[in-house]
Amino acid sequence: MKLIEVKGYQEMSARAADYLAHKVRISKKITLGLATGGTPEGTYRNLIEDHRQNYTSYRHVTTFNLDEYVGLAGDHLNSYRYFMNKKLFDHIDIQKSNTYVPRGHVLDIEQECLDYEKLLIDHGGIDLQLLGIGSNGHIGFNEPGTPFDSKTHVVELTPSTRKANARYFSSLEQVPTKAISMGIATILKAKEILLLVSGENKSEALAQLLEGEITEKNPASVLKIHPFVTVIADHAALSASKVRC
Ligand code: PGA
Repeated sequence: MKLIEVKGYQEMSARAADYLAHKVRISKKITLGLATGGTPEGTYRNLIEDHRQNYTSYRHVTTFNLDEYVGLAGDHLNSYRYFMNKKLFDHIDIQKSNTYVPRGHVLDIEQECLDYEKLLIDHGGIDLQLLGIGSNGHIGFNEPGTPFDSKTHVVELTPSTRKANARYFSSLEQVPTKAISMGIATILKAKEILLLVSGENKSEALAQLLEGEITEKNPASVLKIHPFVTVIADHAALSASKVRC
């Protein structure tokens, strides 16, 4: 696991965008795994800027998002499909038909999980997965206790995750109680993983990842067994860790 320490959110976002844009430019065809939330927003802003300034093209790029709320249609303001369209896809030249986000508003949600996992396999898997981390160590929506061999599945969101995400909704009650998430095994199959961590509220989770044991109690700890992980973390996120670079 390679650790890159940066000053703050801006630098983390710029470094991550440079990394992603470079991979996109040098590849004939690439499948990216993407994430939502506050962490990657700055990265996406930088990618849009780079697309405008340097004409980086996404016509050969396919994307798979990590997760989606159960019960929200793609045009719902709080759905992750909507987030991705507004924060990235609408502003670059990617073909929308090459962007995949699990569908949270379907009758058979279990079937959707199976279909999403199959779709990923049919596309040859993910080349580079962008990840954030929850303050409880979750990756995607894989909460503590999720088996490491899990594939795309329906998850029950923990109270702490619903509370953390309530800032995007008008009230806590509006936050869905379930989500579809790529499983831990699904995430681990990515050829390469780029984990972004910013802010003091993530410092304990990051210290647990860097210094703690590998355990299903801490989903992110599984990243230690992946052969190609880069972590870009800012000073605040590293404030509880002894490991520094
Ligand atoms: P955040 O969420 O980027 O909004 O902090 C990250 C996560 O929960 O995985």
